[in-house]
Amino acid sequence: MVAKSRTAINAGQSDRLEGVSDGRVGEHAVEAALPPLQDRFGRTFDYVRIAVTEKCNLRCTYCMPEEGVDFQGKEKILSAEETLRTIGVLARMGVRKVRFTGGEPLVRKDIIELVAGAAATPGIKSVHLTTNGLLFDRYAERLKEAGLTGVNISLDTFDADKFLKITRREGLDKVLDSIKLALDLGFPRVKVNVVMMRGFNDTELRNFTELARDNRLTVRFIEFMPFDAHQIWETGVHFTSAESLVQQIEGMYPGIRPAPGSRTEHHIFQAPEHAGKIAIIPAFTRSLCGNCSRIRVTADGSIRNCLYSDQEYGLRDLMRNDGSDDDIVGLFRQAFEQKEKDGFEAKKASSVQQVDVKNIGRTSMTQIGG
Ligand code: GTP
Ligand code: 5AD
Ligand code: SF4
Repeated sequence: MVAKSRTAINAGQSDRLEGVSDGRVGEHAVEAALPPLQDRFGRTFDYVRIAVTEKCNLRCTYCMPEEGVDFQGKEKILSAEETLRTIGVLARMGVRKVRFTGGEPLVRKDIIELVAGAAATPGIKSVHLTTNGLLFDRYAERLKEAGLTGVNISLDTFDADKFLKITRREGLDKVLDSIKLALDLGFPRVKVNVVMMRGFNDTELRNFTELARDNRLTVRFIEFMPFDAHQIWETGVHFTSAESLVQQIEGMYPGIRPAPGSRTEHHIFQAPEHAGKIAIIPAFTRSLCGNCSRIRVTADGSIRNCLYSDQEYGLRDLMRNDGSDDDIVGLFRQAFEQKEKDGFEAKKASSVQQVDVKNIGRTSMTQIGG
């Protein structure tokens, strides 16, 4: 089965597939288009992930300690106006896909304004949200109306006790209801993110894959990454590799075939008779780096050219010191000229301080922005 598992690579990787024309998003022409944002390895960056808060209403052990992390004051976080300005400049550089992350983006009171503003930005073709689902029912209809095209919801277990253990809060039923609501409201892309942890939720693999049988969603298994504020990762206990998941899933569904998906969905397939898809994200083994198209902006307004890099480029301070749009373009270009070949090289380079670059320690996914 090993040889077969090598074929289970995304059959049509493109974040453009994630662009959806629903009459609201992507209908405006881009004015004063600029050359695309590229790096020295020939990759083009057309997908921005913007964290809109560091705060979260859960305390997942793979992300944050119980007491939280050192959250920064509101004045340090990019305002809606600054965020939308950034999106406008990036759209002129060819960015077509926006994702709001966090922390938990739905704790931002102005999330509807952010989604509507991004969707109305000339050039932007799709606007997505990564959420833990707890507050989703409060905003779902308005998010749809504002032009949100995709929702990724985290769900790591179907067992209420385990949910409490992993998130340190109640809420499993709310998350399950949110997935159903997202499907019922007809969001074009609905995905379920499962962080795979050996000895914790691997026994539930089939319960997760079966979600794709009758529902038009993608269930995605994510390799556990070392951004858990020094809680579990260092014990080495929970890591499950993408390759082993590919083999298990192929063994479970005879006739399963590679399918098209986004660029993070490095392995993605569809089983016969399934309405939805199953994907595996090699977030730690990093086989997806050659196809990287992602730009990251942290909640406190730093550009990151890689999840594994700790080099940051101060976008917030540039904007607050009267930087022009051309200056913003220049900062993004500088960040991506300096992007490393892959996440391993980025990690290696991270211990090296550079004079013109801020280098601050972030140990939790909530500070990096997922
Ligand atoms: P789609 O656009 O739907 O493919 O979503 P996404 O995978 O880009 O976004 P999401 O916020 O749902 O992220 C899912 C998981 O993939 C998270 O654990 C991310 O940290 C991880 N991930 C996203 N982008 C990258 C990346 O550039 N590198 C690595 N190693 N992991 C990533
Ligand atoms: N490893 C892998 N994925 C993580 N996420 C948060 N922390 C980690 C980690 N240490 C996931 C969340 C969510 C996405 C944005 O990131 O579960 O699905
Ligand atoms: Fe891109 Fe870095 Fe992520 Fe690899 S680890 S996919 S290079 S952001």
